[in-house]
Amino acid sequence: MPDRKPLMSGNWKMHHNHFEAIQTVQKLHYRLTRDDYRAVDVSVHPPFTDLRSIQTLIEADKMDIILGAQNCHWEDSGAFTGEVAPPMLEKLNVSYVIVGHSERRELFGETDEMVSMKVHAVLKHGMTPIMCCGETLEEREAGRAEPKVAGQIEADLAGLDAAQVGGMVIAYEPIWAIGTGKTATPDDAQAMCSLIRRLVGERFGPETASAIRVQYGGSVKPGNAAALMAQPDIDGALVGGASLDADDFAAIVQYHSA
Ligand code: 13P
Repeated sequence: MPDRKPLMSGNWKMHHNHFEAIQTVQKLHYRLTRDDYRAVDVSVHPPFTDLRSIQTLIEADKMDIILGAQNCHWEDSGAFTGEVAPPMLEKLNVSYVIVGHSERRELFGETDEMVSMKVHAVLKHGMTPIMCCGETLEEREAGRAEPKVAGQIEADLAGLDAAQVGGMVIAYEPIWAIGTGKTATPDDAQAMCSLIRRLVGERFGPETASAIRVQYGGSVKPGNAAALMAQPDIDGALVGGASLDADDFAAIVQYHSA
């Protein structure tokens, strides 16, 4: 059996100012036990303005919660008003960076080429990309879910080597399931996550395929986390709405004891 420790990630999107973020992390820390951290990795991805506060809190209280970011630019520095560079995140001891979230792609025009440059930049600075992919409802209904995701995997992992890809996280997030309360059935989510692993294997070899962690995201809640996590190719969850509430996110992290 491959040893892939599940990764449960809370993507807060544009929610929680730094005061609210501190309260949420404190409450989450209070809810989680040593056994939980032994069983799974837990990351939180607050807005940029919260990162320094949460870094300080995690380090001062020696929390096992892992700090993540939601996005970054691909350049190390420069005249890019409003952007945040990977070395700035590295300096804040950020471990995981979400790259190519569907909201970035659909609402802010991020292309596969940009996603690929971001993946390279995150890896270059010793952080781990959580690279997102997934299809719209229209694409799913037209039978184009698999080619869409295959195309993203192909383009977004361009120019990487097997060792780099093996350390990464890929999040399968069907766009129709994000923030809608609709979840892919465990079987459908498993089918797509297994496809992602197979594609990685064809391109980078079986060892890389068994090392890479594949998350499912899209309306993950305390009530459906266990069924999703029981699937053999689902190694974690990327949680939006339910991660804003420490009780709900803790219950998701504790899916194994549900
Ligand atoms: P929801 O859990 O709110 O559907 O969001 C999923 C997501 O986009 C996480 O990145």
